[in-house]
Amino acid sequence: MKDFTNKTVVITGAGSGIGRALAEEFAKLGANLALNDIETDALNETIKLLPSNTKIFTQTFDVSNADAMFNFAKECKNHFGEIDIVINNAGVSSGKLSVEAIDLALFKWVMDINFWGVVYGSKAFLPYLKTRSEASIVNISSIFGFMGIGFQAPYCSSKFAVRGFSESLAVELHNTSIHVMCVHPAGVKTNIANKSRGGNEADKQEFNKLLIADPNEIALKIIKGIKRKNQRLRVGKGATVVDWLNRFKPFHIANFIQQKALKYREKQLAKK
Ligand SMILES: NC(=O)c1ccc[n+]([C@@H]2O[C@H](COP(=O)([O-])OP(=O)(O)OC[C@H]3O[C@@H](n4cnc5c(N)ncnc54)[C@H](O)[C@@H]3O)[C@@H](O)[C@H]2O)c1
Repeated sequence: MKDFTNKTVVITGAGSGIGRALAEEFAKLGANLALNDIETDALNETIKLLPSNTKIFTQTFDVSNADAMFNFAKECKNHFGEIDIVINNAGVSSGKLSVEAIDLALFKWVMDINFWGVVYGSKAFLPYLKTRSEASIVNISSIFGFMGIGFQAPYCSSKFAVRGFSESLAVELHNTSIHVMCVHPAGVKTNIANKSRGGNEADKQEFNKLLIADPNEIALKIIKGIKRKNQRLRVGKGATVVDWLNRFKPFHIANFIQQKALKYREKQLAKK
């Protein structure tokens, strides 16, 4: 797809970070936007940033609610007539917790949103996308969809699952009008760490220091990926290098990063 004028783009988790930046960048290209978030105020803040002539439809709901997602898809179709692109972006982190310590309910919360939200979003919109001569499903995984890092088992599990689901769907839909892209961002300056439900404040601040990439630059790269019909897109500093190194030396790279992070933490604590 080369031209986004009057195309309808669905974005989940559009109240912050990458989702908000995608809404801004697609609006500049003249797209119609169907936006979701679990937080109404955040979604309203996003809308304020969009050009006043943007055609917008919004619904506040939890992407881990299958019925709500299927209803959203139906309402988007009723509102705009056609759907061209679906971006399953909404996501959360459990914060830094060991497998031993984590509460299973928190683990499940992450899987329900990060993985099942993507499955529901893809499945709910598929019948509408099929009627278009060109359409895209974009699922947001992570650099942690390639590499498991310690103390982030729910997040890594969910992002590996998003990659497996998306790659399977991409093969299934090969030779159809629907392009499927799985995106693997690294270190984007968003609210993901601040909004994590578990872990402590110091760990969140430490994680925030690794989030440096500008969300709007990442959104532009995602749009370029849609234009080029990429199937696997790595964005943000180190995403490609980590993916490749991890293929040759699985565990070593994750261990190296973990050790670096631990040393950094010790240094910070020693300073206090
Ligand atoms: N920031 C990064 O470095 C990074 C790296 C890799 C992957 N990602 C992924 O990018 C996506 C966007 O995250 P972000 O970094 O912009 O974080 P963010 O916290 O800034 O934005 C996420 C948005 O999703 C919304 N959301 C959370 N739970 C929801 C639910 N149940 N239903 C609907 N909306 C919900 C939040 O309210 C928020 O507005 C996520 O899938 C995340 O895992 C981010």
